[in-house]
Amino acid sequence: MKKQSKDKQTGIAPIIGEVPDISDYEVIYIGAPVYWGIMPEEMVTAMKNIDFTGKTIRVFTTHEGSGLGSIPSQVKKVCKGSNVLDDSLAIVGSMVNSAKGKVENWI
Ligand SMILES: Cc1cc2nc3c(=O)[nH]c(=O)nc-3n(C[C@H](O)[C@H](O)[C@H](O)COP(=O)(O)O)c2cc1C
Repeated sequence: MKKQSKDKQTGIAPIIGEVPDISDYEVIYIGAPVYWGIMPEEMVTAMKNIDFTGKTIRVFTTHEGSGLGSIPSQVKKVCKGSNVLDDSLAIVGSMVNSAKGKVENWI
């Protein structure tokens, strides 16, 4: 999935390529960088094209101070019919190389 610039007419950020088939999975991990407190619009576009009904979702972010921002509540809004767990993980992007233990404990 590649990013493209936002369409000036529709305001929708398009994506190139197929969205993933998640039908065989029960737990979905959604990771996003915090951009202006929320997730990149391309991710929202992709997620709107995926059926998350009945899935369990765990959210993680990379950031430089905002932590999770509004991303968990954004995911709850977009991924209708799913169960978004309230144990989201926030990792400082510039320290991601030393975050392995934190990620393993969380998983
Ligand atoms: C356009 C833009 C907006 C950002 N906004 C925020 C923000 O609101 N809060 C924050 O903590 N970090 C913010 N950051 C920092 C990113 O969340 C952080 O660097 C992240 O690790 C970037 O991941 P990426 O390299 O996958 O894009 C922003 C970075 C960019 C480029």
